[in-house]
Amino acid sequence: MNRKPIFAANWKMNKGASETEDFVKSFITKIQGLNLASEIVIAPPFVSLPKLAETLHSSGQNSQTIQIAAQNCSQFDAGAYTGEVSVMMLREFFVHYVILGHSERRSIFGETDEIINAKMLKAREANLKPIFCIGETLAEREGGQLEAVLRRQVTEGLKGLTEKDMAETVIAYEPVWAIGTGVTATSQQAQDAHAFVRSLVSELYGADTAARIRIQYGGSVKPGNAAELMACPDIDGALIGGAALEPQSFMEIIRNGLEN
Ligand code: PGA
Repeated sequence: MNRKPIFAANWKMNKGASETEDFVKSFITKIQGLNLASEIVIAPPFVSLPKLAETLHSSGQNSQTIQIAAQNCSQFDAGAYTGEVSVMMLREFFVHYVILGHSERRSIFGETDEIINAKMLKAREANLKPIFCIGETLAEREGGQLEAVLRRQVTEGLKGLTEKDMAETVIAYEPVWAIGTGVTATSQQAQDAHAFVRSLVSELYGADTAARIRIQYGGSVKPGNAAELMACPDIDGALIGGAALEPQSFMEIIRNGLEN
């Protein structure tokens, strides 16, 4: 199965509008002339989405080259939900992807599998493509809970999604202990978890959907480890935090990751 690799920059709470503009201009210069046969996605904070869309547009980038993601969305349509942003508002800024279920949303903001599932369904209603994040904590891994945790997150998070929805969904396996810590899962640990997640998708949606779905690895991905991770048969790209804040290292991750 030929799955198109997908590299996504998750900027988290970094880069306002002017830094977004600077990054994009520099990044576009760096990727020019490179044959990056992959999807590239940037997820800035909400307030930087308009500037990202505008800068990409004025640089002559069509939505094929660099796609825009939001880092979150509301599970509600509109109304008295202070501080929330709806999927329809995101659509106005040419957002195609939305990161959901990130471990920081789960652990710091109390998002449960149920809330994440409601957001997944809402995103699909608006035709947004979810980047659905899952992953275990160190205690869960050491306690032999890895598969049980992934099974619960996948089963609960994807409830109600159709096969058609799954064709537009990306899964990001991000072991919580590897996020922002500089500790990366070994490629064997990552491959094993990815293969397990793919088998879960197969149980739920059949072998065809499982063979097609892209599963990104996330957690301290850097230019130096991208090639080894991407060489694993079930790893189809990366979700990158810290190392995607600099245009040079984001470009190098994609370039090195595609080398093999
Ligand atoms: P990191 O973050 O690359 O800084 O570890 C990854 C993520 O949280 O998506």
